[in-house]
Amino acid sequence: MRVLSGIQPTGRPHWGNYFGAIQQYIDLQHEDESYYFVANLHAMTTIRDKEVMWAHTYDAALDLLALGLDPNKATLFIQSDVPEVSELCWLLLSVTPMGLLERCVSYKEKVSKGLSSNAGLFTYPVLQAADILAYDADIVPVGEDQVQHIEVCRDIAGSFNHLFGEVFVLPKARVLDSSAKVPGTDGQKMSKSYGNTIELFEDLKPQRKKIMRIQTDSRPMEEPKDPEGDHLFELYSLFASEPEIAEMATTYRQGGFGYGAVKKAIADVSESYFAEARARREALVAEPETVHEILADGARRARKKAGEVLLRAQQASGLKR
Ligand code: ADP
Ligand code: TRP
Repeated sequence: MRVLSGIQPTGRPHWGNYFGAIQQYIDLQHEDESYYFVANLHAMTTIRDKEVMWAHTYDAALDLLALGLDPNKATLFIQSDVPEVSELCWLLLSVTPMGLLERCVSYKEKVSKGLSSNAGLFTYPVLQAADILAYDADIVPVGEDQVQHIEVCRDIAGSFNHLFGEVFVLPKARVLDSSAKVPGTDGQKMSKSYGNTIELFEDLKPQRKKIMRIQTDSRPMEEPKDPEGDHLFELYSLFASEPEIAEMATTYRQGGFGYGAVKKAIADVSESYFAEARARREALVAEPETVHEILADGARRARKKAGEVLLRAQQASGLKR
């Protein structure tokens, strides 16, 4: 089975991104073949600053490596290093009905949020389809919001196959557990748009301060509390072991503890949970040549596969003999 997923380089990932998405992508690297890329061409529809573009792209690759993506198992690359995908995108655009794209909610949503309505933003799902089809991907792990794009990809692949023969593999979305909502510092869902995030790799001191400032209610210390649905307990449970979680639940039910102690426990367990990833990230920052080699090697492998699929599509449609 071939797994593929892309992440947009839109800034520093937070705990919600990790537990809701990244961790599960990385777990899938053990499949027969897996491809992961930083979708900088997709970001091109919105980012207008070259320094920001490069920094976010490079950071996203570092984050994935630090969090355990193994370049010997998975192919990790930057989207724009595989020009075959952009070429394939044109072939797909030529068989994509306008109506299919007009129905996509993400375009309408982005424009309603004030993003400029460029043609790249409108045809974004077609480039995404090219990303997926270029590697004969069977499984595409994505969040709920991307499911429509995978459906569009299947529709486009189906149209192309109908016109020109069985060229493309039809992929399936693997929807990540959307019930796993990580709470933010205000107790609401953690999200960049709510400004309540705790970033994975922010410096430990400010991170600890942020954790100590997580909002809580003002019930007295001695009152017994229900751990279910308590955001501090939920955060603690992301990082702690089963026995530690059980012990914390007992403490909650007994009462007589302060929220400050729970916050301190969260800071401690999260620090050790990500200690290895943090160390790996620091080592990678100090070794840019290694990272460049990994990405160059990933691009080479990705181009080989994408080149084969592009040729198949070109031959089937009469662009090449
Ligand atoms: P944000 O809301 O911060 O902009 P994104 O929309 O870029 O985050 O989300 C990227 C991925 O991370 C998605 O697959 C989404 O499901 C996951 N994710 C984001 N926030 C959370 C959260 N608080 N809990 C669980 N998963 C999350
Ligand atoms: N559109 C995806 C997102 O915003 C990123 C992405 C680009 C992607 N190409 C992809 C995801 C191909 C899966 C497969 O999150």
